[in-house]
Amino acid sequence: MPSLTDQRMLITGGSAGIGFEIARAALEQGARVVLNGRDAARLEAAADKLHVPFVAGDVGTDAPAIMASAVEQLGGLDVLVNNAGWGRRMTLEELDADVMHEIWRTNVLGAALMAQAALPHFEVAGAGALVNIASTAALKGYAGGSAYSSSKFALASLSQCWAAELRPRNIRVLQVNPSEVQTGFGGRDLSAGMNPRKLFAEDVAHAVLGALTMHPRGFVPELTIHATNPWE
Ligand SMILES: NC(=O)c1ccc[n+]([C@@H]2O[C@H](COP(=O)([O-])OP(=O)(O)OC[C@H]3O[C@@H](n4cnc5c(N)ncnc54)[C@H](OP(=O)(O)O)[C@@H]3O)[C@@H](O)[C@H]2O)c1
Repeated sequence: MPSLTDQRMLITGGSAGIGFEIARAALEQGARVVLNGRDAARLEAAADKLHVPFVAGDVGTDAPAIMASAVEQLGGLDVLVNNAGWGRRMTLEELDADVMHEIWRTNVLGAALMAQAALPHFEVAGAGALVNIASTAALKGYAGGSAYSSSKFALASLSQCWAAELRPRNIRVLQVNPSEVQTGFGGRDLSAGMNPRKLFAEDVAHAVLGALTMHPRGFVPELTIHATNPWE
């Protein structure tokens, strides 16, 4: 089975949660990883834990610089994980234009600009993989989801457009839809401990790596991940 040995990966939003666990799991399989995030101190602490390089920056405004630094540190690029993202529940009455704009700037524009910046490096490598961490909020709207869910629907659309454009160039595009994952997302307080029946970030990492390590003759366009029985 193909492995991730020496695959060069940039993971946006890699300083915490799902991105951090994808990095940890990929390193265990021999990948070479650069982490990105905005908060430089938190990012450096995460990178130190994994003994990997990092590049601080906001995907919505600094995509070319983030990519340039990552490629310089890795000597090229094979995998981009567009994981950076955030959201806030707002009903239609509560909708705040600035907050909605910021969510879209990270979750949609940031992912698009990072993907665009990755393309020339995939061309040099002759292949590539583009992983977009979307959400089950990309599949179905819900009360309070105007800003976040709409941004993830947009990311789903981008994933489909890019898959159609990039397959002939040996670039695999994978949209990942986790349901609720126990991370600090949205300011969630995990101090009371983790529910063993609900998803952990490492579960998402496991699924992503499974798709990435299939033979490159095939690709998984979309992966949806649920907790099997979170109710008991
Ligand atoms: N947790 C869930 O229940 C869940 C479910 C489905 C999908 N997701 C998606 O999974 C992804 C990761 O979420 P998570 O749960 O791991 O959240 P998290 O623990 O809050 O981690 C988010 C990461 O993204 C970084 N980040 C946020 N905005 C950024 C930006 N503009 N530029 C660069 N980095 C940025 C954060 O660091 P800084 O703040 O320092 O930048 C952090 O490293 C997100 O796209 C989220 O929408 C999460």
